[in-house]
Amino acid sequence: MNVLGISGTPRPGGNSELLLNAALVPFADAGWDITRFLLSEKTVAPCTGCEACRGGGRCRINDDMNELYQAFAQCDAVIIAAPAYFRNVPAQLKAVFDRTYGAPASASLEGKLGGAIAVGRGTGGGQAIVLNIIYNYYLSCGALCVPGELNGVTAAADKPGDILSQPRRLEQAQALGCNIIKYSALR
Ligand SMILES: Cc1cc2nc3c(=O)[nH]c(=O)nc-3n(C[C@H](O)[C@H](O)[C@H](O)COP(=O)(O)O)c2cc1C
Repeated sequence: MNVLGISGTPRPGGNSELLLNAALVPFADAGWDITRFLLSEKTVAPCTGCEACRGGGRCRINDDMNELYQAFAQCDAVIIAAPAYFRNVPAQLKAVFDRTYGAPASASLEGKLGGAIAVGRGTGGGQAIVLNIIYNYYLSCGALCVPGELNGVTAAADKPGDILSQPRRLEQAQALGCNIIKYSALR
């Protein structure tokens, strides 16, 4: 079994990356293969709307997205962690979403399980909106949304690493990972 973890922050060592790492711990314990795709390390250009990908064609842009197309096809589940940027996802993550417009990219997530994590500076900083944006992406691809303890995981943190002083949030991220493993076993 393989889980794909995508971190949507452009900031190396950001709180999104750290929460994602916490969510992936249970997968390591359960013997899953883990693929990490960190947008702090990768370059994914925005979609140009050429529509070459529609009807099964390949994207004309040649960049790190090629790696992600393969990871989408190979994974059994995906977790996306992202910061709130003006109560939305960062442009880097939106570029990933848009670059999966055509099948087979989006279709490769069909029927797979998806979890979401959102972090913002303030409480009520738009984390719930970010979760919904990620969930809407999953649903658009035919993927199934998996809850954490309650809904998705939300956290308030500012500087990179701040989240490490919030053990409860790290625990909730792990609970999301545990739920995905549990739901996978039920299928
Ligand atoms: C361009 C930009 C926009 C932001 N917009 C929001 C926002 O709408 N709501 C919020 O709570 N925090 C906002 N923040 C703060 C980040 O979400 C916060 O610092 C978060 O911890 C960053 O995640 P990271 O550590 O994973 O990079 C913004 C930060 C930047 C750089």
